[in-house]
Parts: sequence; C-alpha cells; structure tokens
Amino acid sequence: MPRKTSRLFRYEKIANRIKQLIEKGTYRPGDRIPSVRQMSEQQVVSISSVLQAYLQLESEGLIEAKPQSGYFVCAPAASPLPEPEISSPGLDPSHVNLHDLMMMVMRDTLNPKLIQLGAAMPNLELLPTERMNRIMAGLARKASKGTHQYQLPPGLEKLRVQIAKRAVNSGCQLSPSDVVITSGGTEAIDICLHAVCKPGDIVAIESPMYFGTLQIIEVHGLRALEIPTNPRDGISLEALQFAIEHNPIKAVLTISNFSNPLGSCIPDEKKKELVELLTKYDIPLIDNDVSGEIYFTEKRPLVTKAFDTKGLVMLCSSFSKDISPSLRVGWVTPGRYQNAVEWLKFTLSASAPTLAQMAIAEFMESGGYDHQLRRLRREYAGNVSMLSQVVTRGFPAGTRVTRPLGGFVLWVQLPENVDSLDLYSMALKGGITITPGHLFSPTNQFHNFIRLNAAAWNLPIERAVERLGRMVSELVERG
Ligand SMILES: Cc1ncc(COP(=O)(O)O)c(C=O)c1O
Repeated sequence: MPRKTSRLFRYEKIANRIKQLIEKGTYRPGDRIPSVRQMSEQQVVSISSVLQAYLQLESEGLIEAKPQSGYFVCAPAASPLPEPEISSPGLDPSHVNLHDLMMMVMRDTLNPKLIQLGAAMPNLELLPTERMNRIMAGLARKASKGTHQYQLPPGLEKLRVQIAKRAVNSGCQLSPSDVVITSGGTEAIDICLHAVCKPGDIVAIESPMYFGTLQIIEVHGLRALEIPTNPRDGISLEALQFAIEHNPIKAVLTISNFSNPLGSCIPDEKKKELVELLTKYDIPLIDNDVSGEIYFTEKRPLVTKAFDTKGLVMLCSSFSKDISPSLRVGWVTPGRYQNAVEWLKFTLSASAPTLAQMAIAEFMESGGYDHQLRRLRREYAGNVSMLSQVVTRGFPAGTRVTRPLGGFVLWVQLPENVDSLDLYSMALKGGITITPGHLFSPTNQFHNFIRLNAAAWNLPIERAVERLGRMVSELVERG
C-alpha cells in the first residue's frame, strides 16, 4: 500500500516530484535534470538525500547518469501494445487510383479549425523559421541582379558542397557534382521515376507506402507491386526477389530509414543485401531518405547509397522535415542516371528557388543545421513516446502500434472491424483529422489502420488523441 506523502522519506519526496515532472512531460526523454548540487540548493535538502533520490530514479529506469555530464531522462520503455503485423499484399501489380480520397483529406488538412492528428507536417515551433527569415533577409539585401537569373541543374554549388560533406555521416563518398538539387523531395522522386520508367511499367514498393509517392505512380500511369514490409526492419527481401523473378520490375521504391507511415528502418547490413540483390538484376532503387536525419538512436543509420557500386541507387531527400517545407528544396544523387535527371529537372522546372538554396547552404555552413537536428531528434523522440503512451492507454484492446526509432509518425492498427474512413468521418465531426490507412495502398490493404503525427505535443492534442480512442471503442462496439 502506498505510504502517505507526509510519511515519505525526504529522498522519496524528491524522487516523486521528479517522476511527476517526467510524467507531465516537463522533463522529456533526453533532457538533463538539475544537478545534485542544484537540486540540493533548490529544495534545501542534503546532497545525500538528492543522491539517494537519483539512485532510486535510476534503478526504476527513469533517469541515467552520463559521466561528466549529469543525469538525463531516459526514453520510456516501448509501448506494451504489440506492433502491427507484417503486411501481406497480393502478388499482382495494380494501377493507383487515390486522387479523390487524397483531395478530400488534403482539404481537411488545410482547415485551421481542426486538430491535425494525421498529416505528416513538421512542427513549426521546432523549425528554425526565425533564423531562416533572418538569413534570407540578409541574403536578399546583399543579392546581386544575377541572383534573379535562371539557374540550371545541377543547382547551387555551395549547397551541393554542404550536402556532399554531410553524406559522409551516412556512409557515402559523394562529390558535389553527384548531387542534383530539386524542388523538394517530391520532385526528386517524380524525376527519378520519369528517368527510369514509362507508362504501364511495374514498380515494386514497400507496403504500406507514403501516399505522395503513390500519387506520383498514379500520375505516371505506372503499376505498383506491393511488397510485404516489416514494421521494424522494412521490405522483405525474399518477397522482393520473388516479385523480381516473376515480374518485369523497372524500379524499386523504398523509404529505408524511418518509413512514413511504418517507421521501419532497414538495418545497414540488410540495406547492403538489398542493393546487392538489385545490382544482380540491374534494377534501380529509388530510396527516399527525408527522415534519415531524425533518428532517436546514438548513430545515424547509413543510406542504401553507401553500398552502391554500380550507380543504381537514386537517393532522394529534402529539407522539408527539418528546415522548412515551404522553401521547396530537395535533392537526389542519381548515380548512372545523372544526365537524364539533370535534363528532366531542366525541362520540368529549371531550378529550385535560388534564394532558398542560398539560405539553406548558409544555415548548414554555419553549424545551425546540426544544432537544429539535435533539438528536433530530442523533441520528436519525446513526442513520439508521449503519443504512443496515450494510444496505449486510450485505445481499445486489439490495437497495435509501431515503435519507430526515428521520424515523427505512428502507424496504428485498429481492431479488424473498424474502418478508418468511418473513424475519419466521426473524428471530423469532433474537430479532428487523421490520415486513413486507405491512402497508403493502391489495393486497400490497410482499411483498419491510421497514421498519427507526433510532431507536436500539448494538452489539446493529448485530449484529442484520448477522444479519438473513445471513438475507436465506439466503432468496435457498433461492430
Ligand atoms: C516520406 C516522404 N517523402 C517525401 C515527402 C515530401 O517531401 P517534400 O515536401 O520535400 O516534397 C514527405 C512529406 O510528407 C514524406 O513524408
């Protein structure tokens, strides 16, 4: 039986106070808590009482001591809910036809009166918007007339130098001339598909797949062949090999680091096997790494490009998730398709906006980007864990949820009899939007799934997730 607060030892009171601050989210995973000396001064208690309190919190796995740095809040244990099952799509390719549903969801996403729990938009409070505004204002003041001239692919050299330098952290040896700047990651993927496929061709994709990519497949008149994908370690290589042996696959599309929506991350060794498999069959891999920098682990996962010996990996990324989605700056390393990609970029949109490229290059050069990423990783790790906890306690039995080690979305499998479009309508009436699982498969593999965005976390969002859980329970009961 818990003892009355008045009967607690001093160290227990301190430990409880910190525990509450962790539970409320005041101290988040990765935060440093006050040092032993600070706490003893603040609370007017002895150093040994604080030390004992910290030891207790350490033994409960709530905080950890880091030599010479202090005490830090640990990431909470993963949600006890099971993870979603590995997807099991059919064996045939199919056309994509999602535009009507997509447009409906997009309209609701733009409605500022709704609580946005679905759209994978980054949290503007965590993006360096003021810093970027200042950099751009400074650049605009100094800009020569030449800044307004057409720019041609491959894009601003200063920015390509920065991208090539960073690529070393993800295992790549790139030269600036290996990089082509695009108007966001979407255009990078669009151009890659254009470069290697023609209408009617078959592309193999992870299942589930980010709907933006499915839309590009739809626009190009391609057929998508969904490959079973594990919520932890990504696309099944056995299933992919089988698909390749039975279909004329022209390209494979993956989000190998922190997939949207699945959160899966292909282990580095498996990335190597994936690239070797595709090299054997001479099939290009279009790998989307937009969330690769947002990892919650010690080290950045490598990219598939790191294992590319034949120029078959077209690595795409963008600054939309960590600097600004509205600047529309992304990039691709097209490997052996460099000429085709540069020509397509020239033909379709000439260049990404010059001022935006200059601003991002300056931000990276100054060290601001590294600082920004460290903050983002810490905050998103905390927010993902909070969201996961509320889903765990607020959603009915039979719910499953992913445990991503990066990015900022959760993929939630609801009990089988719940259709996420019914939930969508119900949630909308309650002022909430979610992203229905229907959008992530051309063959509707995920009718009872939803994607939730954890980029922002506050009380209204927490209450909205709790309400959503009650709506799911109501739909389960209705049967
Ligand atoms: C996986 C993934 N790829 C690409 C994009 C789009 O990137 P961009 O805004 O740079 O075009 C998004 C945005 O939601 C995404 O989640």
